[in-house]
Amino acid sequence: MDFRFNFAVDENENSEADTHFLLLGSAKHSQESMEKGRKTADAGADCSLRPGVGQHQEEAPRTKHCVKAAKEHLIPEDLNKVLENKVMETISDLYHVNVSVVEMTCSGDADSEGIVSKSVSSHSDLIPGVYEGGLKIWECTFDLMNYFSEAKIEFSNKTVLDLGCGAGLLGIVALKGKAEKVHFQDYNSTVIEEITLPNVVANCINEGSSKEDRKASKPPAKRPKKGEGSPEGLNKCRLFSGEWSEVSQLLLSGNKPFSKYDIILTSETIYNPDYYSALHDTLAQLLDKNGRVYLASKVHYFGVGGGIYLFEKLIEERNVFKSRIVKTIDEGLQRCIMEMAFKDSS
Ligand SMILES: C[S@@+](CC[C@H](N)C(=O)[O-])C[C@H]1O[C@@H](n2cnc3c(N)ncnc32)[C@H](O)[C@@H]1O
Repeated sequence: MDFRFNFAVDENENSEADTHFLLLGSAKHSQESMEKGRKTADAGADCSLRPGVGQHQEEAPRTKHCVKAAKEHLIPEDLNKVLENKVMETISDLYHVNVSVVEMTCSGDADSEGIVSKSVSSHSDLIPGVYEGGLKIWECTFDLMNYFSEAKIEFSNKTVLDLGCGAGLLGIVALKGKAEKVHFQDYNSTVIEEITLPNVVANCINEGSSKEDRKASKPPAKRPKKGEGSPEGLNKCRLFSGEWSEVSQLLLSGNKPFSKYDIILTSETIYNPDYYSALHDTLAQLLDKNGRVYLASKVHYFGVGGGIYLFEKLIEERNVFKSRIVKTIDEGLQRCIMEMAFKDSS
């Protein structure tokens, strides 16, 4: 799998330092692609964002202070619709939609945010405030999945949040590990509808299918049948889109009962230091007092400025969490897994 992504930014923020270019894996990027990233910056101009605090509606959407409203995505009764036009593949024994097919078929209402077309036309895997990368499966997801097995992380009867879920594979692993409930959050509603939800549905309806079938990348044998009812796993799931602070507020002040999470999983979500404060506060608001966060990340995101040391610094400054690096992966760009818990937790 190729993990070369470039990173388009808002042209209004025109300083060199703000022209981000994200280097993932061991790939190197040419000046030409960087220029391309710069030219596509306008993709951020018509984002459907809500103004940040103190901003007026007219002047809202071009800055990183835009706040994308939170929304819960209900799981439809007709699961066939969810899988319509989807080509499924398998990776690490899990079903997931083929993203190239989504890129070719997803338009109009299905991509009301326009992120599929913007990401394809700008060759960008991140457009800050517009598209935050959830269409792809990023490599630290696999690091965290490996860590679950090595460290024998128990999901049984736990409440779990896959924060910045993209494909949602981490949450799906928790679901298969008999978690009591699993919530998925992504910045983009298109990602939730076109990627996360189909992946969750495909894995739930094929729960129990043979390992051989999945290893052979056979498409899911089962399609949902009318009147069959929701597979058990699906009833444990809720899906949300929106910016972290907004989703946190929706959960905490919504009309459905909410209990804090025993485990929060988050992979490749600390590339942009502008989001650190919101991420930290969201973790602090949503984690149970004795809960654990497992965060997987590159040690440094070249060109973007984010990385594990910078996030650790913020954690120390805020003095809410204790953190430790539980695994370092030294292939290509260095990556790591961090465990976080409240300072006064047991
Ligand atoms: C690079 S993608 C990683 C996706 C997935 N976790 C993976 O490893 O494949 C970063 C994810 O973080 C989420 N994200 C980034 N910034 C966010 C923000 N400010 N508010 C809400 N979600 C955000 C996006 O939804 C996006 O899916």
